[in-house]
Amino acid sequence: MEYMVNAEDLKPGMYVSRLDRPWLESPFLFQGFILRDEAHVREVREVCEYVYVESIHTDPAINLPSIATAPAPRASDNSRWRNRLKKFTAERPPWRRHSVSISEELSTARKVHGDSSALMRTALDNARAGRGVDIKAARTAVEDLTQSVMRNPDALGWMSKLKDEHEYTYKHSLSVCILTLVFGRHMSLPEEELHQLGLGAFLHDIGKMKIPMEVLDKPAALTPEEFTEMKRHPEYGVEIVTASGKVPDTVRDIILSHHERMDGSGYPQGLGAELIRPMTHMVAICDTYDAIVSKRPYKKPVSAVRAVEILNRERGSLFDPWLVDQFIQCVGVYPVGTLVELNNGETGIVVSANREARLHPRVLILINQEGERLERPFVRDLATDQTEEGNERHHIAHALGEEARGLTTADLEKYMSEV
Ligand SMILES: [Fe+2]
Ligand SMILES: [Fe+2]
Repeated sequence: MEYMVNAEDLKPGMYVSRLDRPWLESPFLFQGFILRDEAHVREVREVCEYVYVESIHTDPAINLPSIATAPAPRASDNSRWRNRLKKFTAERPPWRRHSVSISEELSTARKVHGDSSALMRTALDNARAGRGVDIKAARTAVEDLTQSVMRNPDALGWMSKLKDEHEYTYKHSLSVCILTLVFGRHMSLPEEELHQLGLGAFLHDIGKMKIPMEVLDKPAALTPEEFTEMKRHPEYGVEIVTASGKVPDTVRDIILSHHERMDGSGYPQGLGAELIRPMTHMVAICDTYDAIVSKRPYKKPVSAVRAVEILNRERGSLFDPWLVDQFIQCVGVYPVGTLVELNNGETGIVVSANREARLHPRVLILINQEGERLERPFVRDLATDQTEEGNERHHIAHALGEEARGLTTADLEKYMSEV
């Protein structure tokens, strides 16, 4: 249960689930953190008069009801959505940590990615030619993707970053599938559910194959008529898969409703939170994120860091805030493969996201402070690394666009496989 607690009454060990102000007006990266110590409590006091504390995640030695000023008002009146989400997020044993390293998984991930790319291309070509989709083959591909994500989610996550601007739909479909599996793993979903989630994400935009190419790849804004046609792709998708054989209900729902939004502003049905399923909403979040970070004929790619900011801005209106937080915790603020510049002027690539300290991943340093490419790149773990002076820690100054500083994606892939 959530309680409202005056900032003055906060104690280390309490789990802060919401603040008294919008997220972006606070310096905290997430609504949803345990107060570590008195210094952390003071940081919250400086910003908030009161916060909401969730009893389930709070140290049980703290008697919350006696401290709280009142039970928290409900975050929204979407009680049915809340109940559904609660059931969906019931305690599950976490998936074991990575069982193999990213470099060990990379060659398998490359093969699985290649095979599923080929399959996705065939599926989309068939759909465009009016033929059905081989659901059985899609299912096998998603199972292979799931196994790879289970062993190490960073390897495939990295492969799906390597996409070029052509053939957007198939690469996007595959990226959303991988991203959704990584998210589902983070949420400890059972394997059977991961398969359905992955298959839904894999096929979510299959209906776009009924949209004329000129509209699909138009390098400018769509006319209102074109936009109306584009918005029919979820229904077209359901038609395609229904004609192709038996598909699980979850998969059909993901295809039909991945553009529905919590506040009812989505399409095709304008469903409110009451009628949206959590798995479908997970795909909606991954779909939006991938669309933001992708290069398109009419827009430049946006950094993952900025995409996280955009998702955050929409939390509570378009997207469920809790699921957005979970997603961000899962991809990290700096996902694997992000090129970054450190405060000391070094440039490197994020090689593993530190899930506990999201701002402090491990970075493979490729270019030194003088701007020279290093012959022997080395890893800086920003969570533990200190500068020579021993005072200010090395940290990320900002994320760079892909292929910045003369580094190509081929260079980066080579470095990644050597980490
Ligand atoms: Fe879509
Ligand atoms: Fe999509």
